[in-house]
Amino acid sequence: MFPADPLAAVTHPDPYPYYAALARGRPLYREPALGLWIACHPDAIRAVMGHPAARVRPADAPVPPALCPGPAGTLFGRFVRMNDGAAHARAKALLADFIQEQGARPSPPAWPEAGPPHAAAVDRYLAAAPVHAQAAFLGLPPALHADCAADIGAFISALPGTAGSAQAAAAHAAAERLQFRLESHLLAPQAAPALRRLREAGERAGLAPALLAANLAGLLFQSCEAGAGLLGNALVLAGRRGVRGPVTDADAQALVDEVLRKDPPVHNTRRFLAAGIETGGQRIEAGQTVLLVLAAAAMAEPEAGWPFGALGHACPGAGLARRHAASALAHLLRAGADAPALAARFRYRPLPNARVPQFDFPEDNTP
Ligand code: HEM
Repeated sequence: MFPADPLAAVTHPDPYPYYAALARGRPLYREPALGLWIACHPDAIRAVMGHPAARVRPADAPVPPALCPGPAGTLFGRFVRMNDGAAHARAKALLADFIQEQGARPSPPAWPEAGPPHAAAVDRYLAAAPVHAQAAFLGLPPALHADCAADIGAFISALPGTAGSAQAAAAHAAAERLQFRLESHLLAPQAAPALRRLREAGERAGLAPALLAANLAGLLFQSCEAGAGLLGNALVLAGRRGVRGPVTDADAQALVDEVLRKDPPVHNTRRFLAAGIETGGQRIEAGQTVLLVLAAAAMAEPEAGWPFGALGHACPGAGLARRHAASALAHLLRAGADAPALAARFRYRPLPNARVPQFDFPEDNTP
C-alpha cells in the first residue's frame, strides 16, 4: 500500500513506486493535511529551488527560536546550509574549494567498542562514524573525533521543535566547544595547506575566521544524519544480499552507490517562500512552505544526482560522503556486524527528511 503522504513515505518499507507515481502524476500540488506544497517532478523542484523568493529558512525564523539567544543559535545562523544570497554564495564557494583541495582519503574511523557489534552498538556507530570520518578529513587530532561526534549529537538533539530546555542548554555548550575547537584548528600556525588557503581566501573575501570555523563545524553537522542513513541503508542492503564478513573496498563502494540509486538517505528538503511566486501554472503565497521531494525527482531522473540535492545548495560533500560510507561499511563488516540478522529486524527513525535505520528498539515498539 502507498504511504499516506510524502512525509510518511520517508519511513515506509518501500516508498519508491509511490515516489515514481508522484513524479509522473503530481508534479506540484498542495497537501492541506500537512499544510505544505509538495514538489515532486524535477522541473517543479528546480523551478522552486532556483526562485529567489524560495529560502532555506523561514523569513521570520532564520534560526530556530529555541536556540536563541546563545552559541547554538549563533553557530546555526552561520552555516551556509541555512543562508541564501550573496553571503551563502561566497562562503559556499570557499568551502567547496577547501573540500576539493583537502582531498586526501582518511583512514576509517576507529570502531568505538570492543567485541562484536550488536544492534545498539551499530546504531551508535551509524551516528558517530560519519562525524569521525569528517573530523579526520578536516585534519583534527584523533583524540578529538569522539568529542566532535558527541557535540554534534548534542547540537542535533536540540533542533526538533519537541526539544526542551535541557537539550538547548547541552546544545549551547556543545556549540561553544565546536566553535572554539574548529577556530583553533583553522588558525593554528601549523594548519594544513588547504586550511591555510581557506583562511587566506576568507580574508580576501571579507569572511571572518569565526564564520569559516563555524562552517567547518557545519561540515561535521551535515555529515551526521545523512551519513548515518547512507551507511545504515547500505548495511541493510548488504544484509538483504546475505553479505557476511569482510568485503573489499570496491564491493563496499558498490553497495553504497547502489543504495544511493535505490534507497537514498535524504528523501526531501524544504523551501520557505519570502514572497508569493507563480510556478508550474500555480500561485504559491508568501509564508508557505514547499516540500521538495528529492526521492521522487530521482525516480524521474535517476542519473541526475538528486540524492545530494541540486542547484545553489547542492551538497558539496557528495564525494566524501560516498567514500566515508564505504570505508565505514567495510569496517563494520570486518568488525563482525551480522548484516543479514540486522536487516531482518530494524525500523526507521521517525525523522521528517532522512531515512535512517534503527536496529535496537523494544519488541512492543515495532511499527
Ligand atoms: C561527508 C558528508 C557530508 C558533508 C560534509 C555534507 C555537507 C553539506 C553541506 C555543507 C550542505 C549545504 C550546502 C549549501 O547549503 O549550499 C549540504 C547540503 C546537502 N546535502 Fe550534504 N553533506 C554530507 C553528506 C550528505 C549525504 C550522505 C547526503 C545524502 C545522500 C547529503 C545530501 C545533501 C542534500 C540533499 C543537500 C541539499 C539540501 C537542500 O538543498 O536543502 N549530504 N551537504
